Amino acid sequence: MIRLTGVSKGFGGTSVLTGLDLEVPTGTTLAVIGRSGTGKSVLLKCVARLLYADAGFVMVGGEDVGQADPRALRRIRSRMGYVFQFAALFDSMTIGENVEAPLRREGVPPTEARRRAEAVLERVGLGGSADSLPAELSGGMRKRAGIARAVVAEPDYLLYDEPTTGLDPVTTAVIDELMVGLKRDLGATGIVVTHDIRSALRVADSVALLHEGRLHTEGTPQEIRDSTDPLVRAFVEGKSELWPEHSGPGR
Ligand SMILES: Nc1ncnc2c1ncn2[C@@H]1O[C@H](COP(=O)(O)OP(=O)(O)OP(=O)(O)O)[C@@H](O)[C@H]1O
Ligand SMILES: [Mg+2]
Repeated sequence: MIRLTGVSKGFGGTSVLTGLDLEVPTGTTLAVIGRSGTGKSVLLKCVARLLYADAGFVMVGGEDVGQADPRALRRIRSRMGYVFQFAALFDSMTIGENVEAPLRREGVPPTEARRRAEAVLERVGLGGSADSLPAELSGGMRKRAGIARAVVAEPDYLLYDEPTTGLDPVTTAVIDELMVGLKRDLGATGIVVTHDIRSALRVADSVALLHEGRLHTEGTPQEIRDSTDPLVRAFVEGKSELWPEHSGPGR
């Protein structure tokens, strides 16, 4: 399980997350939606301790991420897959080498690492792309390569930052199915940060709407679909005029 209790994070006096409480039971997926700049990526980074929370606790599988010493942190991170918002592949390495990297870091022998990387690439529909460089792939293919790298070591925790943003609806549906299948097969506990409400409703057991760094609403996909809350409706219907300040959901 992943649990955030009273998590706050700011930068230079500006508060981004304020007293956030969230719980993701083992084997479930939480989607976090919210406008651009509301702190969604910051939240994920606090879970992986790429950023330190200023206050509160982040617990991952019973371990306090904020208090973890370097060894404990390595152990926690080795059980975690992180899909970065902008794919973040190593440009000078092939797709195959990128996907193998987490296995190599854990000392998996090269032939086995290669075999497992190829199997995962096959799974994300990139079977023929192991020898390509990231620059040779489309945006959607790079996203899928980023997912392959995040899941190759069969993590217990999966953190996805905008896995489908900017992709066409067909590629989005493919990635959504992939996320659902991986959750089923790995039994992983996941957080999916997304602008894409349809994607959130498809992949998540629970959906949390962040607004101005606070948890505004959380509910099952059905509860979110049926909600009469104006902010939730603005998201579900994609209507910018429903936002209190008359500006649309980001990007
Ligand atoms: N390392 C950092 N240093 C200073 N400010 C930061 C840092 N990271 C994020 N911020 C600020 O925190 C706020 C929230 O950023 P964050 O990236 O979490 O937004 P987001 O909800 O993921 O937005 P988007 O939907 O556009 O990805 C922004 O105002 C951003 O400028
Ligand atoms: Mg972000």
